[in-house]
Amino acid sequence: MRSAKLALSGFAILAIAAIGAAALAQPPATPPAATPPAVEQPATLPADTPVPALEAPVVAPAPAVAPAQPPAADIHAAAELGGEHAAAGDRHELTPKGGWKHDGYFGTFDVNAMQRGFKVYKAVCSTCHGMKLLSFRNLGDVGGPFYDARYPNPNDNPVVKKLASEFSVTKVDPDSGGMVSVPGMPADRFPSPYPNAIAASVANGGAVPPDLSVIVKARNGGAGYIYSLLQGFVAPPAGLNVSPGQHYNAYFHGDTASQWVGKDPRNKPPGGFLAMAPPLVNLDIRLRRDCVEGAQGGAACNQDTFDDGKPTTIEQQAHDVAVFLAWASDPRTEARKQLGAAVIPFLFLLSILVFLSYRRIWRNVEH
Ligand code: HEC
Repeated sequence: MRSAKLALSGFAILAIAAIGAAALAQPPATPPAATPPAVEQPATLPADTPVPALEAPVVAPAPAVAPAQPPAADIHAAAELGGEHAAAGDRHELTPKGGWKHDGYFGTFDVNAMQRGFKVYKAVCSTCHGMKLLSFRNLGDVGGPFYDARYPNPNDNPVVKKLASEFSVTKVDPDSGGMVSVPGMPADRFPSPYPNAIAASVANGGAVPPDLSVIVKARNGGAGYIYSLLQGFVAPPAGLNVSPGQHYNAYFHGDTASQWVGKDPRNKPPGGFLAMAPPLVNLDIRLRRDCVEGAQGGAACNQDTFDDGKPTTIEQQAHDVAVFLAWASDPRTEARKQLGAAVIPFLFLLSILVFLSYRRIWRNVEH
């Protein structure tokens, strides 16, 4: 009886290990072949684009003149491309060239992309969106954008300390009991730019900018959705009415039926309307590389690039902030994947061991 039980559990473990091994043997889910974004550059910003002018931690003053935008590619292309999918009830998202590095069983986050994405979040998104589930010290955790092996405790990481201090957080003053605004510390959470939801909605035409801590987990399509949404602000196709204060986006998970005056309701354009104006501008000076003459190669130093030389195009910013937000939604991804990579071979060895002991226990029994 005991041996039978043993054998049974042996088989169970064997089955688990076999499933695990089969899962491992599969090549990491390769993302679909890089589809070139249907829209190379979003249409020029509408004149009424609200320039975020709150007490935001903007690194440099906003551009006085919006940088020259290259002529918009066929702005209807995205709408038409997505049309068939939307009609079929299917969502279609853009995929960056080469796919997402963090996809698959062993995928890890692209550290440079995360660092650039943090810069985009800080300079642009943080004027309206908070990330209350993330602490500054998480930036220095294993697998985080600013992890440094010399500082196992991220609270000691000087980069994390400096980045935290560039945000201001509201705290209770221990002397007066009143609320004061002080520079952030690694232990603080990413602050929300508004004191409460009412203030947030008043400042944004009635819509509350959602907290971005887990937005990648909260939306179908994950990082691909953020990437597409940020590039999806195209001019509305003819026949689509856009209400004041709303912006048409070909990738927003909404519905255009009520505003569509086209002949056939089945041909309604994909996407929807949202209160967020296109937040990204091409070659945003707020993201510019720190070009001190001579320090970074003088004449070769291009102003329209991130610190690592990547151009600050909308596509690049959208990609990087999507990677950063994907990490923020699950900062333990890397540790989890590493543990999995150790557990599966262990289970495999264990199953061999169990199988051999099963053979040994039953060797003299006719069965
Ligand atoms: C000027 C303020 C402002 C800025 C800057 C801004 N947003 Fe928004 N965002 C909003 C508002 C308002 C909404 C809510 C829109 C609605 O529900 O109609 C929103 C909604 C969103 C959503 C949710 C869309 C959905 O599916 O519900 C995402 C994702 C988002 N923003 C990402 C970003 C990112 C990333 C950045 C930085 C690149 C950014 N936002 C910059 C105001 C802003």
